[in-house]
Amino acid sequence: MKRETVIVLDFGGQYNQLIARRVRECNVYCEVHPYNLSLEKIRAMNPKGIIFTGGPNSVYGKDAVLCGKEIFDLGIPILGICYGAQAMAHLLGGRVTTAPVSEYGKTEVEVDRSAAIFAGVSEKTICWMSHTDYIESAPEDFRVTAHTPVCPVAAMECPERGLYAVQFHPEVMHTVEGMTMLRSFVLNICGCKGDWKMDSFVETTIQAVRDKVGNGKVLCALSGGVDSSVAAVLLAKAVGKQLTCVFVDHGLLRKNEGDEVEAVFGPAGPYDLNFIRVNAQERFYQKLAGITEPEQKRKLIGEEFIRVFEEEAKKIGAVDFLVQGTIYPDVIESGLEKSAVIKSHHNVGGLPDCVDFKEIIEPLRMLFKDEVRKAGRELGIPEHLVSRQPFPGPGLGVRIIGEVTAEKVRIVQDADYIYREELAKAGIDKELGQYFAALTNMRSVGVMGDERTYDYAVALRAVSTSDFMTAEAAQLPWEVLEIVTNRIVNEVKGVNRVLYDCTGKPPATIEFE
Ligand code: XMP
Repeated sequence: MKRETVIVLDFGGQYNQLIARRVRECNVYCEVHPYNLSLEKIRAMNPKGIIFTGGPNSVYGKDAVLCGKEIFDLGIPILGICYGAQAMAHLLGGRVTTAPVSEYGKTEVEVDRSAAIFAGVSEKTICWMSHTDYIESAPEDFRVTAHTPVCPVAAMECPERGLYAVQFHPEVMHTVEGMTMLRSFVLNICGCKGDWKMDSFVETTIQAVRDKVGNGKVLCALSGGVDSSVAAVLLAKAVGKQLTCVFVDHGLLRKNEGDEVEAVFGPAGPYDLNFIRVNAQERFYQKLAGITEPEQKRKLIGEEFIRVFEEEAKKIGAVDFLVQGTIYPDVIESGLEKSAVIKSHHNVGGLPDCVDFKEIIEPLRMLFKDEVRKAGRELGIPEHLVSRQPFPGPGLGVRIIGEVTAEKVRIVQDADYIYREELAKAGIDKELGQYFAALTNMRSVGVMGDERTYDYAVALRAVSTSDFMTAEAAQLPWEVLEIVTNRIVNEVKGVNRVLYDCTGKPPATIEFE
């Protein structure tokens, strides 16, 4: 493998993919692997550097997860972060113990600017700490390169052996000069050129998909959203007509979306795909009748989706692989890693147990949303599709609180269409991470044309976010909200009230269910 690679060894921390992403931001390819990846595998990858992540355990406890010491003799530079720093210290003869004072949050760290990792960093710099253990004394041949009033070894190095460690998290934004430190590690210490780009990801993934699929048939679950569109085009480039894209119109799409998707991916569009549109609206509405619990709705829509795919697959015959556009935030929020389940994301936690395919391919599983868009641009997907705001797999099903009916779908589609149209007219749509109308389950009394009304309230949501894992409610201009409100109550039958959601994520989520 000629491409320069840095590997992240996962010791169970929260920010593992974020570290990988930061390395990719230095234009160096990066992958996450388990902490106990064998030395042979590491050698075969020939990485330019290795990063140990944080983790929840104590290196001296019985639940400690540790790699073998031999890794330090490979001659590959290693950076230990948080637990990873402690693991390095512990394995090499330093002393790790419970800190008398745990540090959590933004902390001023005093660094030795002559240390390789701190080149160009201020002498006192704010770093994100999150630890209850600390390195009390560094291993013999190490030099301490940073400390805080309560943490004697906030960083250490042994440049002769290419070993570096930091107690804090350089990968999170709260570590103000964290990117400078990571860049120093990746570019100066590991000696990477930093010439990797997203097109290399695209190329490698295309090749990996080809190797995996061979002559097999592939079915892609195309929703028309950014993720599944990028996955579909990636797969089309990899295996051409071995791929069939099935687009299920579950009747929970935005207004006119079904036709728009067909216009792009269907026979009249620019891509040479096998494209099947399944109009399954009635089937979904029937399944959803009387169902009000959000997780049950999500699971049901996800399951029905898979059933429709299975049926299509049977018609095509011998389909070996199912492709999905799952991206990294879907993976963590569905609780597949160690975190708690927030929502069963469609196509991840929502999968039924008995899926009729040999294997599922998720080529974007390691990427964040903005990285997916970058990959999409590299693939030549038109900008209006790539920069499209995300749309959840269960669609309007999670934007209609309570029971879903065809009538409620119509209401939310029309309100959402007006909202999107007005935000675009006002020229503020591009600044927002995501914005949509949802239908609350609340009806209230109003008065229209001297008549009493008892109708639904539509909730408008707009958030600023770059990674969709946290978000802030956007401060939309009041004049725009006024126009949208007037248009919705006047033009959408069944609505007499419009509310704006001011909640961030956390504590709310972006979608309502
Ligand atoms: P939440 O509501 O969890 O949403 O804050 C975070 C981001 O994920 C999108 N989302 C989904 N995407 N399948 C998807 O592909 C899903 O089931 C799903 N649920 C939420 C949501 O629109 C937001 O961008």
